[in-house]
Amino acid sequence: MSNTILVGAQWGDEGKGKIIDFLTEDADIVVRSQGGNNAGHTVIVGDKKYILHLIPSGILRPKKVCVIGNGVVLDPIAVMKEIDGLRAEKVKVTKENLMISDCAHLVLPYHRGLDEQRELKKGKGKIGTTKRGIGPAYGDKIARVGLRMADLMQPELFTKKLGPRIRENNAILKAYGAAPLNLKAVLEAYLEAGKALAPFVRNTVVYLHDALKAKREILFEGAQGTFLDIDHGTYPYVTSSNTTAGGACTGSGVPPQRMDRVLGVMKAYTTRVGEGPFPTENAGLSNMLHGMGREFGSTTGRARRCGWFDAVAVRYAGMVNGMDEIAVTNLDGLDGLPSIKLCTHYKLGKKTLDVPPSDFLQLEKCLPVYEEWQGWERPTHEAKTFADLPKQAQAYLHRIAELSGAKLKIASVGPNRDQTIVV
Ligand code: IMP
Ligand code: MG
Repeated sequence: MSNTILVGAQWGDEGKGKIIDFLTEDADIVVRSQGGNNAGHTVIVGDKKYILHLIPSGILRPKKVCVIGNGVVLDPIAVMKEIDGLRAEKVKVTKENLMISDCAHLVLPYHRGLDEQRELKKGKGKIGTTKRGIGPAYGDKIARVGLRMADLMQPELFTKKLGPRIRENNAILKAYGAAPLNLKAVLEAYLEAGKALAPFVRNTVVYLHDALKAKREILFEGAQGTFLDIDHGTYPYVTSSNTTAGGACTGSGVPPQRMDRVLGVMKAYTTRVGEGPFPTENAGLSNMLHGMGREFGSTTGRARRCGWFDAVAVRYAGMVNGMDEIAVTNLDGLDGLPSIKLCTHYKLGKKTLDVPPSDFLQLEKCLPVYEEWQGWERPTHEAKTFADLPKQAQAYLHRIAELSGAKLKIASVGPNRDQTIVV
């Protein structure tokens, strides 16, 4: 495998966790470069189900090194909890297989408090965040008032820096009518988590460049999806990081010309959690998938909104990410349908659009133009090769690849490792 950037081509929850786990077999190092514990990657190994939020899915394979890069925001207490959870499942987590950037920014309790208060204040216009404090943490980073892992590794310095941050944020929380934070309690909890995390913390940029020199192969695992990108997504209904391919470079310190390929992961239909425009949303499809016990969020448990495959969105994702190849997941979710719709264009008034408008108010007004494809109406979860798939499913996948402008590489027909078809 070459150095690969894996991105979500839709609104997150494309099944990236499973594809990352599959590709990790051929990689040496797996890097997470953006987002925080708002993400939820579900990986099934044998009869065990793991949900990872911050730690790269590579941790489940022995001998692979996982790196949490500088572009990630992390809550040290949540990371420790995740490490303890993995260890309780007999997964090895040591300083040899997990490294955390000393430049990664910290999520603090006031970030969560502000996230919650801002959502409450917005009322009906809320973003529908995961309430993990992600937006306010990145806000502080950009405003240059964030605290980083490097600060946490120096207790005296951290103590000195945290005081003014708590005081300023307590004043804001008070203005919202929310309870203030206790400096001493926050300090104690964070310093304790910091001590436990210390062995993992280092300059990960240098580590990755040494690995590049040694020709070790790196997989960059994206979290969330293209349309949740802070720059290219359906702003303001987005997350606060660059979820697109460029984020893998800035969030890890690995330069663009060292990247060999970009793989876009997408579902055979579309889903979105949280608020915001969603042109192909379809209540019938949502009900069917929820009825099958599918499409409930792995981080918040919320029911995901579901809709038909949106090739207008994916076409744009292909451009922004430079997608070379695609992996299409959850094909089996469509097994029961006699016919399947696929959106190729939007109508906005009299105009026909082949890429989404930048403004969400316009996107809300877009009407999808559909092609109708014949369903296959039989189970696909046992297919091992592309040829095992029903002819209609093969045609549908080829059409998705054609509209995406990238090569079809993987089709996934279930959550297990062996339900992965390499095309
Ligand atoms: P935040 O990232 O918690 O600020 O949430 C902002 C938006 O991104 C909300 O619509 C969330 O539901 C969505 N979001 C954040 N992380 C994920 C994810 O991992 N999968 C899907 N949606 C996500
Ligand atoms: Mg998820």
